[in-house]
Amino acid sequence: MTDYLVVDGLRKAFGRETAVDGISFGVEKGKILTLLGPSGCGKTTTLRCIAGLEHPDAGAIVIDGETMTSARERLFVPPERRSVGLVFQSYAVWPHMTVAQNVSYPLEVRKWPRVEVAARVERVLEMVGLSRYRDQYATKLSGGQQQRVALARALIFNPRLLLFDEPLSNLDAKLREQLRMEIVHLQREVGITSVYVTHDQAEAMVISDRIIVMNRGRIEQEGDARTIYTHPANRFVAQFIGQANLISGQVMEVDGLDGSLRVDVALGAGGRAPLRALPPGAGLQRGMRVLILIRPEDIEVGPAGATSRDNGLEGTVVSAVYMGQYLDYQVDVAGVRIRAQAKPGAPYRGGDRVALGVPPAACFCIPEESDGQ
Ligand SMILES: Nc1ncnc2c1ncn2[C@@H]1O[C@H](COP(=O)(O)OP(=O)(O)OP(=O)(O)O)[C@@H](O)[C@H]1O
Ligand SMILES: [Mg+2]
Repeated sequence: MTDYLVVDGLRKAFGRETAVDGISFGVEKGKILTLLGPSGCGKTTTLRCIAGLEHPDAGAIVIDGETMTSARERLFVPPERRSVGLVFQSYAVWPHMTVAQNVSYPLEVRKWPRVEVAARVERVLEMVGLSRYRDQYATKLSGGQQQRVALARALIFNPRLLLFDEPLSNLDAKLREQLRMEIVHLQREVGITSVYVTHDQAEAMVISDRIIVMNRGRIEQEGDARTIYTHPANRFVAQFIGQANLISGQVMEVDGLDGSLRVDVALGAGGRAPLRALPPGAGLQRGMRVLILIRPEDIEVGPAGATSRDNGLEGTVVSAVYMGQYLDYQVDVAGVRIRAQAKPGAPYRGGDRVALGVPPAACFCIPEESDGQ
């Protein structure tokens, strides 16, 4: 099955600055894909190319089998003929109009029949939960309600594609969480194919069917939230998504039976410690240099020396910060700083010797060759 939206070899530079450096991806019909990445990585530029607000230097964009942009064929469909709805960060509602007027305005300038306009406005206001506010002036609305107006306006033309550019970033944390759930529900209900841009990884995880992690105009990895978190392709992705301990090491042994690895991790002053890693990354062989990724929440913190833990590391607590749900430890293991998040009951303090339990299944090996930094 071909994707509903296809972006193929998209490239866009501004002067000498390459904002988007030849990226390709697809979105299946009815799905929501997120472009996730740090500031300046090219998310907005990609979105603007899809919307037709930028002329790409190279590549093609196809929506529902129709080519919208093809640099090679010198084809460019103007934005108003792409049937794409946009929701941006700034609310962009007109303050001197009511909610209903804000939403109906785009239809009125195109001289749609009144009855049809009224019916459509009712329907989209219901969809975004604003029916009660239809006659309220837009300035009287909260930030979240204003974003719903913007969403209603994006939906009013029944677009083939919805594009979101950090639509929640002006809202406070609680509201952002609530609205992101609403967007998910609405998107599923309407079944409208969407591309969502954010630099907030939690938002990306909640909202997306698939996530693309971008960096410097390129795609670092594409996958679902779980894959990207548990099997990051490289150092950049591992560090950008969640918190990561990354320790350099070398594969010393590959177990012939279960495929598990023994990796010697490098500690300070030439020290080494063996760790067993499961499941192994594909194609890892003896002698290869790797980065071991261990998420802080997967590490157990226990008393030093009591038992020599299988797959353990010993160290000294540098700091222990109470975070409510967990204690956030920094532990010095022979010159390597490891972060561990343990149950708040754990009683260790700065200076205490502790043993860190690292389950083999929580050690994920990233081959150093794929570490494009
Ligand atoms: N109109 C423009 N003129 C010149 N440079 C631009 C223009 N638009 C974007 N850029 C540059 O292209 C790069 C990518 O910008 P873009 O806005 O796509 O990033 P972004 O991922 O959306 O970042 P943010 O998270 O900050 O919104 C940046 O270096 C930016 O400075
Ligand atoms: Mg942007």
